[in-house]
Amino acid sequence: MPSALFSSLKLRDLTLPNRIVVSPMCQYSSEDGNANDWHLMHWGSMALSGAGLFLVEATAVSAEGRITPGDLGLYSDANEAAFKRCLDAVRKYAPPGAIGAQIAHAGRKASSREPWNGGALIPLSEPGSWQPLGPSALPHIPGEAPAQALTETQILQIIEDFAATAKRCERLGLDAIELHGAHGYLLHEFLSPIANQRTDQWGGSLENRMRFPLAVYDAVRKVWPKGKPLGMRVSTTDWVEGGWTVEETITFSKVLHQRGCDWIDCSSGGVDPAHQKITLGPGYQVPNAEKVKQAVPDIPVIAVGLITDPHQAEEIVASGKSDMVALARGLLYNPRWPWHAAAALGASVTAPKQYWRCAPREYPKVLGDVKVGQR
Ligand SMILES: Cc1cc2nc3c(=O)[nH]c(=O)nc-3n(C[C@H](O)[C@H](O)[C@H](O)COP(=O)(O)O)c2cc1C
Repeated sequence: MPSALFSSLKLRDLTLPNRIVVSPMCQYSSEDGNANDWHLMHWGSMALSGAGLFLVEATAVSAEGRITPGDLGLYSDANEAAFKRCLDAVRKYAPPGAIGAQIAHAGRKASSREPWNGGALIPLSEPGSWQPLGPSALPHIPGEAPAQALTETQILQIIEDFAATAKRCERLGLDAIELHGAHGYLLHEFLSPIANQRTDQWGGSLENRMRFPLAVYDAVRKVWPKGKPLGMRVSTTDWVEGGWTVEETITFSKVLHQRGCDWIDCSSGGVDPAHQKITLGPGYQVPNAEKVKQAVPDIPVIAVGLITDPHQAEEIVASGKSDMVALARGLLYNPRWPWHAAAALGASVTAPKQYWRCAPREYPKVLGDVKVGQR
């Protein structure tokens, strides 16, 4: 039986050679949003991983939309030039592969310290901080300073910022965009009644709470080429009583599907870390991805979260629980995870010619039908 994990998948004009996705991973290593040599190294490593789609880290659509001062951005010409330098170098040397951006606004989780500096909110009295914005004037964590509630004008500006960043992605020649609608960042904050207590058209009913992320989706779809896919990452549940639910995710996914959305990337949590109750374990978010897939069978679904074993990943895709699997920490730990998965499942990946000689004797075809001469 050929591997389901290593079967191709067509998303609009983009054909992925396999169903493995490099999950977006913030590197918190930029200055003023600019990619640098760290990104060149890291993107190079991920681009050689053999994954069908590499989603670059959450990339801010404005300076105040960064989580930390070190976040990557695509909100200025300097950001675009810095991104281009790294992307062009990776494209030049890595085997051809799909590279997409995850574009994001941090909302009330902005102005935080990098994780290795503790991750807490930087008080407004300290240099380097800025005012976090959210749907409502509520803190992310009890006891922290509340966000500033967005005005209508600011909401419309952020929608435009997303579209402007999407245009930069197009100029850069990126293959796909994922909107970050998960983990308690701005799009998710509008969806969740925990963070969104507005009484205007942007809050209250489910229809009103979906209005902002859908407006962002529509604005990006309008400027992003028709042949290129646009997906949405969601937190399928807040894991909090009275929060965003899997049932609401299903409704949101149906509406997105009607608008042509190309995938739903099923993560969870992050809007209320003080109260969320998550039972972690292998593939702990897969059942939620499966529920979305069952309810909206025609939309491609990505499962993510503690997927670490090739046979586990194969089973998730082969049994139809999701169409793709994303890995984050597993790919930092072992950037050639897809190579090893291909070996375990009797499939192959595309490797750069410089590495062809490494195909192990027991898996001679794992790098494809490559021939290396020697004298
Ligand atoms: C270092 C690191 C950075 C992350 N940054 C992002 C990010 O930029 N955007 C996002 O949606 N998720 C981010 N995540 C979450 C991952 O994409 C992924 O959903 C999560 O780690 C679960 O997958 P895993 O068990 O394979 O690591 C990050 C995770 C890690 C470990």
